[in-house]
Amino acid sequence: MIGTVNSRPSWFVQVIFAAITFLSYGARVYGGITSTFVRSEWPSVDIPLDNEVFAVPKGHNAPQQVHITQGDYDGKAVIVSWVTTDTPVLSVVHFGTSPGRYTLSAKGTATNYTFHNYKSGYVHHCLLEGLKYDTKYYYKIGEGDSSREFSFQTPPKIGPDAPYKFGIIGDLGQTYNSLSTLEHYMHSGAQAVLFVGDLSYADRYQYNDVGLRWDTWGRFIEKIAAYQPWLWAAGNHEIEYMPYMGEVIPFKSYLYRYATPYLASKSTSPLWYAVRRASAHIIVLSSYSPFVKYTPQWMWLREELKRVDREKTPWLIVLMHVPIYNSNDAHFMEGESMRSVFERWFVRNKVDVIFAGHVHAYERSYRISNIHYNVSTGDRYPIPDESAPVYITVGDGGNQEGLAGRFRDPQPDYSAFREASYGHSTLEIKNRTHALYHWNRNDDGRKVATDSFVLQNQYWATNGRRRRLKKNHYLTSLVGQIATY
Ligand SMILES: *[C@@H]1O[C@H](CO)[C@@H](O)[C@H](O)[C@H]1NC(C)=O
Ligand SMILES: *[C@@H]1O[C@H](CO)[C@@H](O)[C@H](O)[C@H]1NC(C)=O
Ligand SMILES: *[C@@H]1O[C@H](CO)[C@@H](O)[C@H](O)[C@H]1NC(C)=O
Ligand SMILES: [Fe+2]
Repeated sequence: MIGTVNSRPSWFVQVIFAAITFLSYGARVYGGITSTFVRSEWPSVDIPLDNEVFAVPKGHNAPQQVHITQGDYDGKAVIVSWVTTDTPVLSVVHFGTSPGRYTLSAKGTATNYTFHNYKSGYVHHCLLEGLKYDTKYYYKIGEGDSSREFSFQTPPKIGPDAPYKFGIIGDLGQTYNSLSTLEHYMHSGAQAVLFVGDLSYADRYQYNDVGLRWDTWGRFIEKIAAYQPWLWAAGNHEIEYMPYMGEVIPFKSYLYRYATPYLASKSTSPLWYAVRRASAHIIVLSSYSPFVKYTPQWMWLREELKRVDREKTPWLIVLMHVPIYNSNDAHFMEGESMRSVFERWFVRNKVDVIFAGHVHAYERSYRISNIHYNVSTGDRYPIPDESAPVYITVGDGGNQEGLAGRFRDPQPDYSAFREASYGHSTLEIKNRTHALYHWNRNDDGRKVATDSFVLQNQYWATNGRRRRLKKNHYLTSLVGQIATY
């Protein structure tokens, strides 16, 4: 393995190594799979409003749409959010480490907003701080007969070998396919959701119904989101720029309803931020906020990448909505603008994996990069690159827009596996070197593992030794015949 060679070989040997790398990738590159699986699916229509999956909890002013997210940088805090309809009541969470015994409490805030003629309920956000790692907490919100109880498990302490199982869901919506995805996810054993954008698809509605469909979606995901954190990334369906309804503030409903711990990573916007959880450093980007050079997001990411410490959190994961590598006709090349700005940073920092959504299908790339593009030389095309992330598109949650079934033909060299079916993924981190990745296709209600493999950490070699960043860059450069980064 190239990554484990420690002494610097001569120029000649390096060229041989480069050639071997190139050939071995060449063999893999043409092994790309376009799955011919014939899926079964429900119609791409939203579940009717009166369905039990959207049921309002019993009791006057009972808390509804309960969901939690990480509340700090390292996983010792949780933000609990919920909605009450009638009165703003106190935004209080009672909590503790044994069921029914709530020895602690925290006070939050309640806000409300209008969206055209829709008036929201009171959206509560409450930060529970100073939690112990790896501990089950029970919590209660609401008052008297209307109160409701839930629980969550805090992650293990930040550390290089802390195991953790993440789920990845995107473009979920609220159809029967979405429900199938949630039901499959519930059996995955994953502990937190990395959500890659496009939540409710409420923007497919008009006027009062936009707000109502945000409310139904909040109740729809509660059975999971009240018990484990979802880390949010924003998608295009969150923008809701609807001037004909007088609504022109981007992300309004989303930002009122879904909190992120952005201040903890020194971000100035809830739309981009980072958290550390167990052995992972997770960076969330916004495809629909300015990101070119000198913009706040660009400046923040540059600083956040410096804070990444692979000795403490070996796994570097990036979430965004628009995929950078996608070979589906849907949204083809929409990720080029962000690729041209950030791809070199992802390669230089040896990001392990980048998850995106947006395209309603599943696709996984090889480790490739296209950072040598130069408008004067014309060099361009993704080349095999050991330092590059694996790009995975999981925009197949099951929303009302249906599947993106048309892949480009022939399958490009960079595409390793692609299939237009609904599903979700899991990333099960075992230790600093190994993680098991698994894509689960929703198939007739059965749990089917379709695309799965062992992901090796980009920073720690397979034998547990640190990989040498510099040398890998040099070899990659030789393969690409261009010497600068
Ligand atoms: C929020 O709630 C207050 C008090 O109930 C109400 O007076 C106000 O109109 C509401 N604001 C919005 C934006 O709906
Ligand atoms: C582009 O290529 C030209 C000609 O080889 C070179 O002088 C220039 O430095 C390159 N620019 C970048 C940004 O790589
Ligand atoms: C890491 O996990 C993998 C897969 O479970 C295992 O084979 C390997 O021995 C582990 N490495 C260490 C250093 O524990
Ligand atoms: Fe999208």
